[in-house]
Amino acid sequence: VGRRGEPYAEPMYSYEWCGDFGNAELKALHRNSFGGTVRPVDWSARVHRHSLGWVCARDGALLIGFVNVAWDGGVHAFILDTMVDEGVRRRGVGRALLAVATEQARAAGCAWLHVDFEEHLRPFYLDAGQFTATGAGVIAL
Ligand SMILES: CC(C)(COP(=O)(O)OP(=O)(O)OC[C@H]1O[C@@H](n2cnc3c(N)ncnc32)[C@H](O)[C@@H]1OP(=O)(O)O)[C@@H](O)C(=O)NCCC(=O)NCCS
Repeated sequence: VGRRGEPYAEPMYSYEWCGDFGNAELKALHRNSFGGTVRPVDWSARVHRHSLGWVCARDGALLIGFVNVAWDGGVHAFILDTMVDEGVRRRGVGRALLAVATEQARAAGCAWLHVDFEEHLRPFYLDAGQFTATGAGVIAL
């Protein structure tokens, strides 16, 4: 389960580790999830070059969720850019994205999977995602 090209089958949605995606569909999902101006990012090139992997959630052909798993090249992986289309939230897609990311980071030999988040998302990451609370810091550069 979960090798590239092997979709995770679920009744309604599919989840694929390192699945193919187009920049246009990811930008649309990003805008839908985070709002604001979308910068001209080549997401596909970026994740292929820098990430341990990523998870695409689809409803049929439609991209409805995504999470990027950044990597230090060793035993630390980092959850970034978790996003679920607002039309399908609170149906377990986000939880499934985190579960696939966790399983794949473990399978790749990582020892730690990190995430930071705003306070209102504590139930999502700590309960649904099974992360343990820890101290963390961030600087806006
Ligand atoms: C955060 C996000 C990815 C969650 O996706 P989702 O598919 O709706 O999450 P799930 O349905 O798997 O939620 C599982 C559980 O997490 C918790 N949860 C989910 N979204 C939550 C929210 N916005 N606030 C508080 N708890 C939340 C709930 O306990 C939920 O279970 P419940 O629906 O039975 O109450 C989605 O709301 C999103 O894309 N938000 C905009 C982008 C964003 O802020 N991403 C996070 C960056 S750190």
